[in-house]
Amino acid sequence: MNEPESQIKPAISANLKFAAKLLREGRLVAFPTETVYGLGADATNEQAIARIYAIKSRPSFNPLIVHVADLAAAEKVAVFDDRARQIAKRFWPGSLTLVLKRQEKSKVSPTASAGLPTVALRAPANEIAQTLLKLVARPIAAPSANRSGNISPTKAAHVAASLGTAVDLILDGGACEIGIESTVLDLSGDAPYLLRPGSVTEEMLAAEIGPLQRASLEDSKKPRSPGMADRHYAPSIPVRLNATAIEPGEALLSFGPHSLTGFTAERNLSPSGELIEAAANLYGLLRELDWPGFQAIAIMPIPEEGLGIAINDRLRRAAAPSAGVDAKLAQGQGKDG
Ligand code: TXA
Ligand code: MG
Repeated sequence: MNEPESQIKPAISANLKFAAKLLREGRLVAFPTETVYGLGADATNEQAIARIYAIKSRPSFNPLIVHVADLAAAEKVAVFDDRARQIAKRFWPGSLTLVLKRQEKSKVSPTASAGLPTVALRAPANEIAQTLLKLVARPIAAPSANRSGNISPTKAAHVAASLGTAVDLILDGGACEIGIESTVLDLSGDAPYLLRPGSVTEEMLAAEIGPLQRASLEDSKKPRSPGMADRHYAPSIPVRLNATAIEPGEALLSFGPHSLTGFTAERNLSPSGELIEAAANLYGLLRELDWPGFQAIAIMPIPEEGLGIAINDRLRRAAAPSAGVDAKLAQGQGKDG
């Protein structure tokens, strides 16, 4: 890859302190979480938040996730009832985002939550993210550090390739452990709504608070979550799902052992067929196969269970036709960031 990497700095103590200083000054810093890299800005600084939308080309109606160190910090931003507190205590810090009603007195920029009466909050477990949040001592708004609609970054080099020099600093914490975006759970109404599946699964959540409503792809006609568009997380070439044979010129993204032949290139998400390994490899390998010389990326079936549900959710969106995206945007439907 030939991207500028000058803003990439290892996440050592001195660089973390510098990153915190930049954030407090309203600058943008990309940092690792255990899910994907985030493009961070001081969530209380309107101008910094506006820069995030500009750099990502993110539609202004698609709100950002606000990151906090812990539940105590989160309670200053959003209203927690017993149910929300129970879920936060069980799954934070971790790969779960909660959509809750904003605190009236919250200093978080209204733009960060796209003017909605709700706000998405997450306390990440990644040590670098935690250290940064404590040093900044303010909530940090951070969508995935990629251009809107494209594949989320799981390595510092992916951030540089996607956003170039538009970001002031990229803290390098190596490859993200989970590799797929956080679960998004909406607890702002009476019924809990799963807005985006992730590594905190529906079963894990239901075990705590009972059955969830699910935001389906059909809901994307009138999405509960502004980022629930049909197509995003998408490579630049076509993606073909549940491939059981290879078409001419296709590259293969395989899963587990197989006997397929005839592909021009192959990457295997997990040669042993493990979903955790597949999630961690998903975006990096999709990037490696995203080359205009291939007709398409053919992807083998992934079991619809556990983490496979989140993987298939992202793959369905990556495979959704791009035609009509602009028309949907005009109707007020967003793309995920
Ligand atoms: O793992 C992750 O969640 C990463 C890391 C950096 O934390 N972040 C991430 O952010 O994936 P982003 O902006 O790419 O996705 C946030 C999703 C979008 O689908 C957005 O529409 C939804 O959360 N969201 C944010 N605020 C919301 C709100 N108030 N109501 C409903 N959905 C919301
Ligand atoms: Mg995103």
